[in-house]
Amino acid sequence: MQLPVFKLEKYFDQYEFNTPYNLCASDNESMSIKELLALADDDAKILWDDMKLGYTHMSGHPLLKREIAKLYKNMNDKNIGTFAGAEEAIFAFMNVLLKSGDHVIVPTPCYQSLKTIPNEIGADVTLLPLKERGGGWVFDVEELAKAVKPTTKLIIINFPHNPTGAQIDRFTLDEIIEIAKKAGAYLFSDEVYRFSEHRPGTSLPAAADLYDKAISLGVMSKTFGLAGLRIGWLATQDTELLGACLDYKCYLTICNSGPSEILALIALRAKEQIIEKNLYIIRRNLGLLDQFFEKFQKIFTWKRPTAGPIAFPKLLTSMAIEEFADELITREGVLIMPGSKFDTNGNYFRLGFGRKDLPESLNRLERFVKYRFVDRAND
Ligand SMILES: Cc1ncc(COP(=O)(O)O)c(C=O)c1O
Repeated sequence: MQLPVFKLEKYFDQYEFNTPYNLCASDNESMSIKELLALADDDAKILWDDMKLGYTHMSGHPLLKREIAKLYKNMNDKNIGTFAGAEEAIFAFMNVLLKSGDHVIVPTPCYQSLKTIPNEIGADVTLLPLKERGGGWVFDVEELAKAVKPTTKLIIINFPHNPTGAQIDRFTLDEIIEIAKKAGAYLFSDEVYRFSEHRPGTSLPAAADLYDKAISLGVMSKTFGLAGLRIGWLATQDTELLGACLDYKCYLTICNSGPSEILALIALRAKEQIIEKNLYIIRRNLGLLDQFFEKFQKIFTWKRPTAGPIAFPKLLTSMAIEEFADELITREGVLIMPGSKFDTNGNYFRLGFGRKDLPESLNRLERFVKYRFVDRAND
């Protein structure tokens, strides 16, 4: 399969490690190995110290799968398969489930692989745009119902959503599942930002717990801030489909990295602590962003996200967002993600606010905005 360039990942590759202030990351603040090991219980410490660096279980370390299963209501380790990040899981799943001509529905904007991989397989892909309504971004369930065809094989959702930070409510999730059931379609629910909801206790149930043809996607990268582990997973009641995805993995990474599996196990056993630490940063940063956008409401739109460490504001000036982003890198060393990397028209850009250094990044953005639009207007 000839895949087109992954625009967002390519942009990160170009700028992420040579631009000092990353103001568009979708993952939370990370931890050092030392900090993470300090959270290990005695059992995990022994596993870490005695671990041999051989191949590991193809479907994931049994203890890790058991710990992942605890994130769900009705899953046990047989319902979980691990992959190299969420990305490998998406690739394996789409290739196993879809064939040319299958109809797939995916909300946009979206993480590129969710639409590109079905497209390259030859599926008939319907993009369902989220809409800016009132104070936020909204997923229109009626539009979803209208988009269903007799050939609809798969409905893809991603809530909390990248890049808008939008969340749906339980009623909407139930409606989506009803639509999928009626169509006899699978539901792929990308839940990589689950447990990053800003209001405590507002996490939705996982789709895999609610529907036998649903597949929930999880990962250590986002909510837990441990992207470098490259540990992701699929959770589903459909163990046959899960098995086929794992068979596919044998042609990709075969198995996960052993050290990563133990580190993920340690993190999941300390999940409340890690999630609370990351939510603390998110809430503090959101307060600063509210003040920033209040100050510059003539220059940007601000749809306050309700979940996750990302938002999708819009620059309201005639300057193109790509040019704005380039100049911001050059003058202030701050990275934002132009909406064109999500194939979005208009001057949207992704902001990430899960990092500790956001106050300094925002100061620099403010200085740039004043220099570019405020001071010059007063000249
Ligand atoms: C919605 C969504 N799904 C999947 C992924 C892939 O996650 P990972 O990089 O951990 O494989 C990302 C990463 O940004 C994402 O935002």
